[in-house]
Amino acid sequence: MTASELIVVLDFGGQYNQLIARRVRDLGVYAEVKPHDIDLAELKALAPKGIIFTGGPNSAYLADSPSVAREIFELGIPILGLCYGDQLMAHLLGGSVKAAASSEFGKTETTVLMPASKLFKGVKKKSITWMSHVDYIAEQPAGFTITAKTANCPIAAMEDAARQLYGIQFHPEVAHTEEGNKILHNFAYEICGCTGDWQMDTFTEGAVADIRRKVGDKKVLLALSGGVDSSVVAAMIAKAIGGQLTCIFVDHGLLRQGEGDEVENIFSKGFDLNFIRVDAEQRFLEKLAGVAEPEKKRKIIGAEFIRVFEDEAKKIGKVHYLAQGTIYPDVIESGHGKSAVIKSHHNVGGLPDHVDFEEILEPLRNLFKDEVRKVGLELGLPDYLVNRQPFPGPGLAVRVIGAITKEKLDILRPADAIFREELEKSGVAKSIGQYFAVLTNMKSVGVMGDFRTYDYVLALRAVNTVDFMTAEWSKIPLDLLDKISNRIVNECDGISRIVYDITGKPPGTIEFE
Ligand code: XMP
Repeated sequence: MTASELIVVLDFGGQYNQLIARRVRDLGVYAEVKPHDIDLAELKALAPKGIIFTGGPNSAYLADSPSVAREIFELGIPILGLCYGDQLMAHLLGGSVKAAASSEFGKTETTVLMPASKLFKGVKKKSITWMSHVDYIAEQPAGFTITAKTANCPIAAMEDAARQLYGIQFHPEVAHTEEGNKILHNFAYEICGCTGDWQMDTFTEGAVADIRRKVGDKKVLLALSGGVDSSVVAAMIAKAIGGQLTCIFVDHGLLRQGEGDEVENIFSKGFDLNFIRVDAEQRFLEKLAGVAEPEKKRKIIGAEFIRVFEDEAKKIGKVHYLAQGTIYPDVIESGHGKSAVIKSHHNVGGLPDHVDFEEILEPLRNLFKDEVRKVGLELGLPDYLVNRQPFPGPGLAVRVIGAITKEKLDILRPADAIFREELEKSGVAKSIGQYFAVLTNMKSVGVMGDFRTYDYVLALRAVNTVDFMTAEWSKIPLDLLDKISNRIVNECDGISRIVYDITGKPPGTIEFE
C-alpha cells in the first residue's frame, strides 16, 4: 500500500457505498469500505483521517436498524453522515428523526444556509442535489447548526464543527449532485486535513516493489483467462519477478473469434513470463455434449476448468504462490461490507484442490475496476484488452442456446465478430455497455438466391447499463441494424434470420442463455 492517509466508509447497506469510496479515491485520498459493526478498537487501529457513514434503506429510529457504538463520536475523528448516516447521527446524538409527510426523490434544489461552513467552501448557495429519503431529521441534536435546507427538508445539512461532525441528507457521491465532488473534497482536505497521497502511478510502482520483496526467489502460478483482472495481475507480477511467474491459459474452445490467439500474442511475446496455452477444446466439448440446461453447462465448465488447470499445474510441480485477480468489489460484499471468501479465477468452480501451493497472492485486492484498468494501461497492456466489455467465464457456452456443438460455435463466432466490428466502427459501441450475438436453438426457413435454406436464427443483444444489475436494451440506429443483418446473412454460413432482443433487465438477464 502506498497511501498513508485513509478515509473509512462505514457501510449501512446503501446502494452507493462503493461509489463513495471510489469518489474519494478519485480525489486522491485512499478510501475503504468497512462494515458498520466493525469493532471500534479495529477502527481506531486503522487510524483513519475521517469516517463517512453511508446511506441505507432502514429507519434510524427502529431498534433493529444498523447502528454504531456511540463512542465513535468521541474518537476525535471527523465524521460525515450521508442520508441514513446523517439521520443515524442525529438519532444517536439526541435529535429527532421521523417519517416525512412528503418524501424526496431525485434532483432537488438545495440552499446552503451557512456559506462559512468548511464543508461548503466554494459551493454555490443554490444547487441541485440528489435526494432519496422517506425519513427526515425533524430536529437536530444539541450543539448542531442547520447548514442547508430544501423546500421539503428543513435540515438538508447540519454540523457541529467543534466536534467535527457533519451530516447531509443528499448524496454527494452521485453525479446528479452538482457540487458533490466539491463537498467530498472539502470533507477530505479541509476537515480531515488530508494531503492526497493516493495516486495510481505511485500505486503501480509500489505494488510491483511489494511483490518483488514478498516473493523473493519463489515461484508464482496464475490462471490467466485473458479477462481484464487476470491480465493485469499477469503484467504486474511479470514486471516484478519475470520468469518466476508461470501463466496457464486454458483455452476451453468457447472463446470469441481470434481471442485465444490474441491472448497468446500479448503474453507470449510482450511480457517476461512463462506462458502455457492449453488447448482443451476437445475435453470441454466432450463434457458438454448433449447438455442444454444453462446451470448445468456452467457447472461442467467450472469443474473442467479446474481439472485442466490442475493437470497442467502438476507438470510444473510445487509453487509457493497462487496468484489471483481478486479486485476490491469481490472482497466487499455489498450491503454488509463483510469479506467474500475468495474469487475463483473463473467466476465459477472454486480454488483448485490439487495444486501444490503455500499462499495466495492478490495484488489488485484493494482496487476498483476502473483503477485496475488504469494500472493495466500503465503496465503496457493494449487498450482494447484493458477496456474490453465483460465476457462471462463460461464464454460462448452461455451464448449458444441448447446443447453445444463445435458446429454451432463456429457459426456463432464470425456473426458475433461482425456485429461487434460494425458497432465499434460506427462509434455506437462507445455508448453501449455490452453487446454480443447469440445463436438461438431455433431453425427457420429462408431463401438464398434460388434455394430454400433451413438455418439458425441469430439474436443480437446490446444493452445500456451502469452496474450490470439493471439494463435497458440499446436503441441502435435502424440503418446500422440493417447493415449488420445484411452482412451477417451474406457472409456467415448457417444463419437464415436475425432478430434483435428488445428485453430490459429486469425482466430479462443481460446474457441470453
Ligand atoms: P446477467 O446475464 O446475469 O449478467 O444479467 C450480468 C453480467 O454478468 C456477466 N456474466 C458473467 N460474468 N462469469 C462472469 O465473469 C459468469 O459466469 C457470468 N455470467 C454472466 C454478464 O456478461 C453481464 O455482464
